[in-house]
Amino acid sequence: HNHIGHATPEKVEAAIAAGETHAPVERYETLSAYLEEGGYSELKALRAEGDWEEVQEKILASGLRGLGGAGFPSGRKWGFVRANPGPRYLAVNGDEGEPGTFKDRVYIEGEPHVFLEGVLIAAWAVEAERCFIYMRDEYPGIIDILRKEIRALEEAGIVEKDYIDLRRGAGAYICGEESAMIESIEGKRGIPRHRPPYVAQVGIFDRPTLVHNVETLYWVSKICREGPQILSSVEKNGRKGLRSYSVSGRVKSPGVHLLPAGSTIMDIIKAAGGMLDGHRLKAYQPGGPSSGLLPASMNDIPLDFDTLQPHGSFIGSAAVVVLSDQDSVRDAALNMLQFFEDESCGQCTPCRVGCEKAVKLMMADKWDQSLLEELCQTMTDASICGLGQAAPNPIRLTIKHFPEEI
Ligand code: NAI
Ligand code: SF4
Repeated sequence: HNHIGHATPEKVEAAIAAGETHAPVERYETLSAYLEEGGYSELKALRAEGDWEEVQEKILASGLRGLGGAGFPSGRKWGFVRANPGPRYLAVNGDEGEPGTFKDRVYIEGEPHVFLEGVLIAAWAVEAERCFIYMRDEYPGIIDILRKEIRALEEAGIVEKDYIDLRRGAGAYICGEESAMIESIEGKRGIPRHRPPYVAQVGIFDRPTLVHNVETLYWVSKICREGPQILSSVEKNGRKGLRSYSVSGRVKSPGVHLLPAGSTIMDIIKAAGGMLDGHRLKAYQPGGPSSGLLPASMNDIPLDFDTLQPHGSFIGSAAVVVLSDQDSVRDAALNMLQFFEDESCGQCTPCRVGCEKAVKLMMADKWDQSLLEELCQTMTDASICGLGQAAPNPIRLTIKHFPEEI
């Protein structure tokens, strides 16, 4: 496995001591280094005489799925967007607000140009008039890198001036939902739109828009350069491909661990150096708070798209948080609902009022299970977007697997 990552806690502490607002990213691949090892040659060849459908075939053959968390087949989106007349846009979702997720940050901190070449290849494939990169503002180091490297690309004549528009988010979790992100890019308050229509048809300023996550574009670039087998040849437990697990919690070596997509929680903990001394695995969050918490006994499930749905959970952006016998699952679930209560955009009642009500019910000494279940069902059925629909997962999983705590 690979342990990716550059910013260590020591570096962050040193930067804070020196009065910096953020740790500098000391080592990343600059444009000249990337060009030296053949970077952007694929993009140039495609622009000269490429066939977008051939590239789409490669992406489909690799099995690449949307790595923001939804796992939609990436290549298929290109066809949806192209089916609509131009002008078309590309929007990169770099909001990475899922608690526990930090893989996009690590990819840009290391190889910004692999990502940027992916952006430009996808933009070429759908003939995008313009690209918007929507970056999480809590990643100031990354915004610095991107600003600098986009300018370098413009100066090198690889991209026209202002073709890539770097936008800063403002700390709202919901602006990572693609249609809320688009509202925000348009200068409005970020609230999700109803679907359909999908953004592939009606996106930024009502134009067809291709939306990809940062890591997805990183792999588009790698697949074009090295071939689809870079993902499709990796097999484990009946699953294909690689997953960048962001691992935190009670492990010795937290960070982003690139492992086969069929890895179980035990493989992930092993890659993360094992449990901290004196801690025994009790529960884990497989993919962000909306995926809830699973018990240690469910330790043989490959953590990939589709494998957790039968268990009432999902892998999402693979934000794995490891809890031990020294943690309270009940407290963790409450924390998740408090997060959703804070971050609900407030547009629809089942989510706005539902999250608030759930928090109150979860603070009681003894949970009122039937009332909570009724509330969960209403939220799942009637919320507009994924935030409200999935917020009940931590409640339901805690009731099912940790009844002694509630
Ligand atoms: P979704 O499955 O509804 O959509 C995924 C993508 O496929 C979207 O771009 C959508 O426009 C497109 N799509 C789906 N069906 C389509 C169709 N028929 N025609 C055209 N396009 C279509 O999932 P959603 O709501 O976009 O994402 C939910 C996921 O986001 C969750 O699994 C969660 O893990 C993840 N998430 C990630 C965060 C992060 O920081 N990375 C933060 C919060 C949630
Ligand atoms: Fe907003 Fe929640 Fe409704 Fe989504 S489900 S639109 S976050 S209120």
